[in-house]
Amino acid sequence: MRLKIALTKGRLEDEAVRLLTKAQVDCSVLADKKRKLIFQSETDEIDFFLVKAVDVLTYVKHGAADIGIVGRDVLLEAASSYYEVLDLKIGVCRFCLAAPKTFDPTDYKRKVIATKYPNVTEAFFRQRGEDVEIIKIEGSVEIAPLLGLADAIVDIVETGATLRDNGLVIFETIHPISARLIVNKASLKQNKTRIFSLIDKLQLVLKEETADETING
Ligand code: PRP
Repeated sequence: MRLKIALTKGRLEDEAVRLLTKAQVDCSVLADKKRKLIFQSETDEIDFFLVKAVDVLTYVKHGAADIGIVGRDVLLEAASSYYEVLDLKIGVCRFCLAAPKTFDPTDYKRKVIATKYPNVTEAFFRQRGEDVEIIKIEGSVEIAPLLGLADAIVDIVETGATLRDNGLVIFETIHPISARLIVNKASLKQNKTRIFSLIDKLQLVLKEETADETING
């Protein structure tokens, strides 16, 4: 049976392919993508496909993909059904509460928070016992407080450059984020040997990389 692997398009793609290749998965079909979206590796009997992060979750949930590689940000935002089997330690970033320097987090007025991640934001403020108004924004959330649409944002911070260049600062780090390997529940039962063999190989690669980091500082 062919193994179907859903990869997140964009930032995570190269790093995911690098890890899979090190784990002896033949990813050469992904080298010359053109406008194709499904890539069939004959040597490994794998079909790779490239989709948006939230769609990775949908394909894995419904079993259209056996395995997916997706950021923890997406997993935290959308409740779904899957096994999260590995932290791949790529796509490392964090969810933060950020705002202009003048923002006062202790202010008792009802705050307006702009975010691409309303569920994560809601859970964060609920846990603090604070009721906020959440405005969903699809991208470049940093603009919202600059235009007076929101008091603060909850967003992903990687290098911090976008915040810095837009005069925003971090007030709190909410969750660490990195890419995870997720597996469809039925696939894990049906294709146990193959999937566990891939998990084992990836685990080995991650161990080697951690050891290299320790040696190289
Ligand atoms: C993400 C995130 C921040 C930026 C953070 O946006 O929403 O805007 O990256 O990265 P940095 O800390 O390295 O500057 P993305 O580039 O995915 O685009 P988007 O804003 O359109 O979602």
